[in-house]
Amino acid sequence: MSERRVPFLDLRASTAPVAAELDAAWKSVTGHGGYVGGPEVAEFENAFARFCGTEACIGVANGTDAIELVLRALAIGPGDEVVVPGNTFIATAEAVTNVGARPVFADVDPATLLIGPDDVAAALTPATKAVLAVHLYGQPCDMVSLAAFTSPRGLALIEDAAQSVGATYAGSAPAAHSVAATYSFYPGKNLGAFGDGGAVVTNDPGLAAKIRQLSAHGRSDEDRYLHDVVGRNSRLDTIQAAVLAVRLSRLPEENAHRARVHGWYREALPSSVRLVEQAPGRVSSHHLAVAQVDDRDDLRSQLDQVGVSTGLHYPVPCHLQKAYAGMGPVPSLPVVEAAAARIVSLPIWGQMPQADVAYVCEHLTKRRG
Ligand SMILES: Cc1ncc(COP(=O)(O)O)c(C=O)c1O
Repeated sequence: MSERRVPFLDLRASTAPVAAELDAAWKSVTGHGGYVGGPEVAEFENAFARFCGTEACIGVANGTDAIELVLRALAIGPGDEVVVPGNTFIATAEAVTNVGARPVFADVDPATLLIGPDDVAAALTPATKAVLAVHLYGQPCDMVSLAAFTSPRGLALIEDAAQSVGATYAGSAPAAHSVAATYSFYPGKNLGAFGDGGAVVTNDPGLAAKIRQLSAHGRSDEDRYLHDVVGRNSRLDTIQAAVLAVRLSRLPEENAHRARVHGWYREALPSSVRLVEQAPGRVSSHHLAVAQVDDRDDLRSQLDQVGVSTGLHYPVPCHLQKAYAGMGPVPSLPVVEAAAARIVSLPIWGQMPQADVAYVCEHLTKRRG
C-alpha cells in the first residue's frame, strides 16, 4: 500500500481559507439567536439570486425538496408524467414520485451523457407534463434546443442544477430557458453548506411566491396564523445561510480552479481514460471529473492500491433500481446502461493541488490496462 493519499474530495481544504469569516458568521447567528429565518437567510437568497442572474431565490432544506416544491407549485401530481434522464442521482426521480407523478426515464447523448430533445421525444406520452434537465457533473444541458422542444408542446422545463452551481449555457443564466432551476448545497457540492441545504431560482414571481408558501406550511402572506394551502416545512437554516454566504464569495475562484484541474487531467490522462466531453458554448461548474474506461473496476482497485480514492456517479441507473421496479415495462436505455458500467469519477475539489492530479495520471498511465 502506498503512503500517499489522494482523497476523492477534501472538504477541509475548502473551508480553511475562510476559517475566520466562517467563525464570524457562526458568532453573528448565535449572537442574535434567530436560528430559523434570521436575516442571514434573506441576505443569502438575495446574494444567490444576484449570483445566478435571476429575479428570485427561495432557500429550502435540500436539493430534493427544491425539485419537489417546483413540481408541486406547478400542480404536477397523480396521473402526470415527468421525463427524467436515467443517469441521475435518484433524488431527481424521487421528487417526481413524491408528488404522486410518474418519472419516465430517458436515454442521453453518448458524448456528454446529458438529456436532449431527441431523448425527451422518445419518452413523451400524452401524460407528459414536464421535463427535468439534469446538468450532470456540472455541464449544462442544451437548454435552447430543449426549450424549443418543450415550449410549443406546453411542457414545463425544469433544471436540476444540483451539480452545476455557477455553470452557464451559451452565456445565459439559470432559469433563462426554463421555469426554474434547483440547487443542492449538500456539503460535497461546489457550494456546500455544513449540512443540508437547497434553493430554487426563478424569474417567475408567481411561481416564487407559491414555492415560498408551500415551503412554509402554506402560510398566508397576510396573517401567519392562517394557512391557505397544505404546505410543508422545508427551510434553509439560518446557520447554513450564513455559511453559504461566506462560501459563495469564493465560488467563482473555486470553480475556476476546478476548470484548471479538468485541464490538467485532459493533458495528462492516457488515451484509455477519457473524460466525458464538454460541448462548446457551455461553462461547466466542473463538479465532477468523470472518465469512461473499459475496465472500470480494475482501474478503481489499482488506484486504491496507490492511495487514490474514486467515486461512481452512478453505477446503477434509476430505471434499474429496486425502488423503481414494478413501474411497468423497464425501458431500454442503451447509452445510460453502457455508461453506468464505464464511468469513474476521479478526485477533484476546489483547491486540488496539481501534484495530486499528476500523481493520479502517472498511475493511470503506467498501470496495466
Ligand atoms: C443531480 C442531483 N439532483 C438532486 C440532488 C439532491 O440534492 P440533496 O442531496 O440536497 O437533496 C443531488 C444531490 O445530491 C444531485 O446530485
